[in-house]
Amino acid sequence: MLATSTLSLFAIASAAVAAAAPPQKPWEISDLIFSTPSGRPQASPYSHLNFTVIDPNVPYYPPPAGSSPSTDVESPTDKPAPPTTVQCYAEWVWLGKPEAFYGLPNNCSHVEHGRWIFTITKPNQTDTTDMHDFNLRLTHLVHPGEGFVGEAQFSWSKNLRGLCAASGFCQFVIRADALPFYINQTFTRVGVS
Ligand SMILES: *[C@@H]1O[C@H](CO)[C@@H](O)[C@H](O)[C@H]1NC(C)=O
Ligand SMILES: *[C@@H]1O[C@H](CO)[C@@H](O)[C@H](O)[C@H]1NC(C)=O
Ligand SMILES: *[C@@H]1O[C@H](CO)[C@@H](O)[C@H](O)[C@H]1NC(C)=O
Ligand SMILES: *[C@@H]1O[C@H](CO)[C@@H](O)[C@H](O)[C@H]1NC(C)=O
Repeated sequence: MLATSTLSLFAIASAAVAAAAPPQKPWEISDLIFSTPSGRPQASPYSHLNFTVIDPNVPYYPPPAGSSPSTDVESPTDKPAPPTTVQCYAEWVWLGKPEAFYGLPNNCSHVEHGRWIFTITKPNQTDTTDMHDFNLRLTHLVHPGEGFVGEAQFSWSKNLRGLCAASGFCQFVIRADALPFYINQTFTRVGVS
């Protein structure tokens, strides 16, 4: 289904907020698969993106901005918590170019604390000629308006490998030599409106 949400998602870097966060281990994308359809009349019109994120951080969240740290911080537990694994999946009607889905927020799988959202954004390289290149913005909202945000770039020439069949159907996965694939995240204000 084409996501028609009117949500808009943006991140505002904030040194003051970031300073409150404990050190974070980077997120890890352990697998990713991206496909685009052939465009033939009888074939599925959807492109699919499916990836897995491992968050190795003990669930410990900075207090909401403006609150007293001594009363709002969740108690660290004695035992280290296992990493959180989040599955992120979306499909779109492929219109022959990726611009149609830039900026649309998509939910990842449900987690106990907060909410994971991903957005595909325009590739960094303005000179890119490959329509399969894309950037990914990943957000873990932990309070209303605040959370961790990280970005990654995917490109056929750099960290994806794949094939396009004669039919026009293409499928890409992360290249083995790009694994483990880390994403650094920063704690920041996040606007979801
Ligand atoms: C997404 O990938 C995960 C892990 O490989 C798999 O279990 C799941 O079935 C996939 N989801 C879809 C909709 O293909
Ligand atoms: C994502 O989850 C939020 C909160 O549960 C919900 O309000 C929103 O409709 C969901 N968005 C999509 C595109 O499913
Ligand atoms: C992506 O673009 C940003 C902003 O222009 C720049 O700071 C960053 O170095 C670029 N990253 C790469 C890998 O080109
Ligand atoms: C994450 O940040 C560390 C420390 O600044 C840096 O060494 C590393 O290259 C970064 N990794 C990625 C994937 O950006």
